[in-house]
Amino acid sequence: MGDGKPALLIAQITDIHIGFDADAGEDEFNYKRFIAVRDHLLAQEVQPDCLILSGDLADGGDPKCYERLARAVEACPFPVYPMTGNHDTRSVLVKAFPGFENEEGFVQYTIDFEGLRVLCIDSLDQGRHGGAFCEKRAAWVTRELDAYPETPTLIVLHHPPIVAGIDWMDPKPSEDWYQRFHETVAGHEQIVGIACGHLHRPIVSEVAGIPLSVTPAVAPAVTLDLRPVDTEVADNRGIVAAEPPFYSLHRWHDGRLVTHMQPVGDWQVLARYEEHLKPMMQGLADERD
Ligand SMILES: [Fe+2]
Repeated sequence: MGDGKPALLIAQITDIHIGFDADAGEDEFNYKRFIAVRDHLLAQEVQPDCLILSGDLADGGDPKCYERLARAVEACPFPVYPMTGNHDTRSVLVKAFPGFENEEGFVQYTIDFEGLRVLCIDSLDQGRHGGAFCEKRAAWVTRELDAYPETPTLIVLHHPPIVAGIDWMDPKPSEDWYQRFHETVAGHEQIVGIACGHLHRPIVSEVAGIPLSVTPAVAPAVTLDLRPVDTEVADNRGIVAAEPPFYSLHRWHDGRLVTHMQPVGDWQVLARYEEHLKPMMQGLADERD
């Protein structure tokens, strides 16, 4: 069953944080994690139609870090789309990745695929950790959504407009940007998903009934700790840990978006599809028929 069209695959890599170890160059921990993720993606038999780098590309705005990343993605035989995160310096990012600024100076643009539009939103408020979604950015999104009300649309932005329970990373629902984002997307039934980064963890949620996914980081993970933070008491909890780096594949097929999240590491393969497993495969196929 299906509409007969091949699946569209959108790869997402997020929170690379190149330059966290200043002056480490290509020996840097985060850079090497990025190369491992890139190479895992490039080794797949089924290649994506594009790759979105959804913010926190560099940790501190060093031009060399953006240039290093731009060189590293030259190996990709598909288009690569950069986005801003709170650690990025917009003016530096756009020099290494030119052509993605809109007329208002935001790294905010649409990717048009046959049957799916992808709105990449700039949620950076330079110098602030939390997200931003000002009236200009909201007006652009509204114009884009109103212009193509029948076309399925995926929204990508760095900051998840959700309260995930990771207290020190969470926004307040009363923040302007948070409320404006919820109001902007509500009621637009063509939005099939919201894909984010920022939280350095695998998370699913929803906004205004729209499914939301958070792709884990290339850089080390934020720990899963749902206790409130007391800003007066440093309780020695772990807050960042070197869990494996990840990427996501958003698969759009037959009117449905499915998101796969892949950790990258040197895992042992425990089973292969060898001759003796053909009966199992045939039994599973027969069951579906
Ligand atoms: Fe990040």
